[in-house]
Amino acid sequence: MLKYLVETYGCQMNYSDTERMEAYLDALGFIPTKDFEDADFIMFNTCSIRQKAEDRVYGQMKKMGQLKKQNPNLIVVVTGCMVRKSSSRYSVDRDKLFVSMPSLDIALNTDELPQLAKLTREINPNLKIHEIEEESLEDYFYITPTHTSHQSKAQAFVAISNGCDKYCTYCIVPYSRGREKSRSIESILKEAEGLVENGCKEMTIIGQTVNSYGLSQHDEEHKTFEYLGDKKPFVHLLEELDKLKEKGLKRVRFTSPHPKDMSDQLIDAMARLETQMPYLHLPVQSGDDRTLKRMNRTYDTKSYKEILKKLRKKIPDISISTDIIVGFCGETEEEFNNTYSFFKELAFEHGYLAQYSERQGTTAAKFIRDDIPKSVKSERWHKLNELLKENSRNALKRFKGKTVNVLVESQEAKVCHGRSEHFKTVQFNSGRKLIGEIVPVKITDSKQWLLEGELV
Ligand code: 5AD
Ligand code: SF4
Repeated sequence: MLKYLVETYGCQMNYSDTERMEAYLDALGFIPTKDFEDADFIMFNTCSIRQKAEDRVYGQMKKMGQLKKQNPNLIVVVTGCMVRKSSSRYSVDRDKLFVSMPSLDIALNTDELPQLAKLTREINPNLKIHEIEEESLEDYFYITPTHTSHQSKAQAFVAISNGCDKYCTYCIVPYSRGREKSRSIESILKEAEGLVENGCKEMTIIGQTVNSYGLSQHDEEHKTFEYLGDKKPFVHLLEELDKLKEKGLKRVRFTSPHPKDMSDQLIDAMARLETQMPYLHLPVQSGDDRTLKRMNRTYDTKSYKEILKKLRKKIPDISISTDIIVGFCGETEEEFNNTYSFFKELAFEHGYLAQYSERQGTTAAKFIRDDIPKSVKSERWHKLNELLKENSRNALKRFKGKTVNVLVESQEAKVCHGRSEHFKTVQFNSGRKLIGEIVPVKITDSKQWLLEGELV
């Protein structure tokens, strides 16, 4: 029996893709292992969003060279965003990957997964690999994922689209994952229903720009959702998922939405639907209009503020988090200060702060100079991070004395960790096994990043 190991880097989308890869490898008759030394088939599901993420994979490749000396039959695969959808002379094409990674056997893009068995047989025709129907599938969404990213069946990721049509100038995703393609609503609902019947209480639906579901160029050309009239396909999907509360679904989260597609309809649905939670992660990237323009974000600070105003009016206690890139090409001190003030004014409760990392092949890399010194990027990052800590600490204080419902995600000895409705991490003690349960917890204290409480 061949033993496989998939190592995943990057965003939730990659973790979700890994679940499809595992299901595919299971169907081929491979068995999973957690030990590199024991594996015959090692797959890296990579991330390209920043150089650091790629460097980690190059580091692992050195280890693969060593392992191949011990096990000459070891097959090493790279998939995910480091394997570009198509190659231009600016991007790292597959041939270059093989040159820079001498231990690499197979490089394939995420949605080429159904070809993996064929490619593996090319490397070693003697391997015993089950014949599976899925090999002939063109669409990797047809592969049912293993849903193993979470510790319990109570939580699951469901991917609803792949790729991106937005072309932010700094971002590699449209080149690595290609054009946005929505999955059919029937197959999403079928998967969702199956998960809920199997005990899923919290579903996180994911896509690169999840709320543009059904609005991609591909969908427009194919008139996929014309039958819905004015109703936004994403809102329709949330409504359909909400119906699964009858079968036990409690929470539906989504990540990451794009501000351009935060329609009034969607805000209304978030306020109206029982399974929607009072939390939204809405990447803004910068709080300065000139920077947003250079980033091609297609909105300005005024329209972003307007969205938050509407959200806070309809869902008064909503928690908002965001993504920021500091040190983007040409970011002046004044532009950064605008981002800082914006972050303070909008009182983001959490956020992922990144220092700009130039990605070969993007519009920014081709046409705008990466002229902010590393030391300035780092200084700005630290300054903003201090504000982020302050915002998080302040935001958590309001929960003191309140009772929140926590979906327990992990438990070591008696210490339980989980998330509240507002997506706040809550820590409490329990002698009972609670992973996968939603339990009421009275908040007794708030720290910088987490709430502490007692089981009610
Ligand atoms: N450099 C730094 N951060 C980036 N992100 C995307 N591309 C880059 C880049 N080239 C960040 C954005 C995005 C998150 C997933 O990663 O903030 O929202
Ligand atoms: Fe990248 Fe922009 Fe698409 Fe997000 S919306 S995946 S940042 S191109």
